[in-house]
Amino acid sequence: MPRPRPCPKTARVLLIGGGGREHAIAWAIRKSPRLEKLWITNPENAGLAALGVPCPVAMDMKDTFHMRRWCEKENIDLVVIGPEQPLAAGVSDVLESKTCAVFGPSKQAAQLEADKAFAKQVMRHAAIPTAEARIYRDSEAAILFVTTREEPCVIKASGLAAGKGAIVCDTTEQALEAIHRVAVAREFGNAGDTLIVEEKLSGQEVSVLALVDGRNIWMFEPCQDHKQVGEGDTGPNTGGMGAYCPAPILDNKTMALVEREIVVPTVDALRRDGIEYRGVLYVGLMLTPAGPKVLEFNCRFGDPECQPLMTRLTSDPIEMLWATATGGLERADITFDSRTACCVVMCSAGYPGTYEKGKIITGIEDAEALSTDEQHVVVFHAGTTRNSNGDLVTNGGRVLGVTALAQDLHAARDLANLACSRIHFEGAFYRHDIGDRVLVRT
Ligand code: AMP
Ligand code: GLY
Repeated sequence: MPRPRPCPKTARVLLIGGGGREHAIAWAIRKSPRLEKLWITNPENAGLAALGVPCPVAMDMKDTFHMRRWCEKENIDLVVIGPEQPLAAGVSDVLESKTCAVFGPSKQAAQLEADKAFAKQVMRHAAIPTAEARIYRDSEAAILFVTTREEPCVIKASGLAAGKGAIVCDTTEQALEAIHRVAVAREFGNAGDTLIVEEKLSGQEVSVLALVDGRNIWMFEPCQDHKQVGEGDTGPNTGGMGAYCPAPILDNKTMALVEREIVVPTVDALRRDGIEYRGVLYVGLMLTPAGPKVLEFNCRFGDPECQPLMTRLTSDPIEMLWATATGGLERADITFDSRTACCVVMCSAGYPGTYEKGKIITGIEDAEALSTDEQHVVVFHAGTTRNSNGDLVTNGGRVLGVTALAQDLHAARDLANLACSRIHFEGAFYRHDIGDRVLVRT
């Protein structure tokens, strides 16, 4: 554990990652009075390109010597790692030094996301509520188990699979097909070396994110995202079609229970194994009739959950990231706007299957012009870039995270939808019903 260090008055920051989550983090960081210079690794994202200076060295573990040396040469004070892949690869361990703090857990701690079998074992030892599960390295044994069990189950690839490695199965036939996809057809590559057969849970899903500085924990208000592509939560899973924060589904009492029975014991269990967790701990929960149970851990901000979180942050983001990275969370001043933020993701036709890129995007200024003294609209770029003429064009499946901040969820969602209606690119689509799980119930 590093000794808590005071946050530098002027900070040189490197942000690793290139999606909507990172654009939201960069947008927040740019508002910090402490920022001296922001470097980015993914300037092809047009939103990020407008906010930071491209880092000339690839931060991908192929050349750890130059990664480290570049950070030393540029006197980087703080590295912020957005996505799971560099965390799982150990970028945090490589870049952390006496002079450079890193926001994002070590390789060992990131196993909580990168190795679901490891996470299950941690939860089992710490008696953390989660779905019953069996871990298999051999598909024959898994086949035998699901054939004899005959109950709905979830088949998961243990490794990183871009959020697509969990297959929910209602019948034995579906489970056998899922085992085939993971372990035989190797749809998720090495992520399927180990396979998990899990009890199928039911209930509402909610994302609880916490900052952890090794010892202290700071709980964000809960978020909910919508993973399925179609309105009414239908169709295949995506990286996330929209999210809002706070999510009224979890009351303070349940949040306290999640902190006490899930977040604290998880951090403690890792510490007992000599693993110090520093960064965001994202707990994906299912609110079952028997109480909240863990579906998964992520070792980073959610995408798109990060977009509403950053939109609501009113305190200094560099101070928050620094305190988490260096062990001073108990003294950090972290505050949020009390209003609700809702992010609606605009996608390319065909997503989450195949889609075309290069469609010209217009209307972002018109969307952001909906901002007034009472409400705000900010459009985060996920899959965008500039073509050779300098036009803003689509460059991914999830293109934009159109985020609105307003008095309540209803107003924020309606404003985000109105903002989306002002933005155009060929084939654009988005879900109009983000938040309905809560809005329809109330
Ligand atoms: P994961 O990658 O483990 O978060 O799983 C992705 C999605 O699959 C979750 O967000 C849930 O919608 C679903 N899922 C995962 N595990 C379960 C489970 N045990 N029971 C029901 N649904 C699940
Ligand atoms: N929104 C889900 C995730 O980031 O994993």
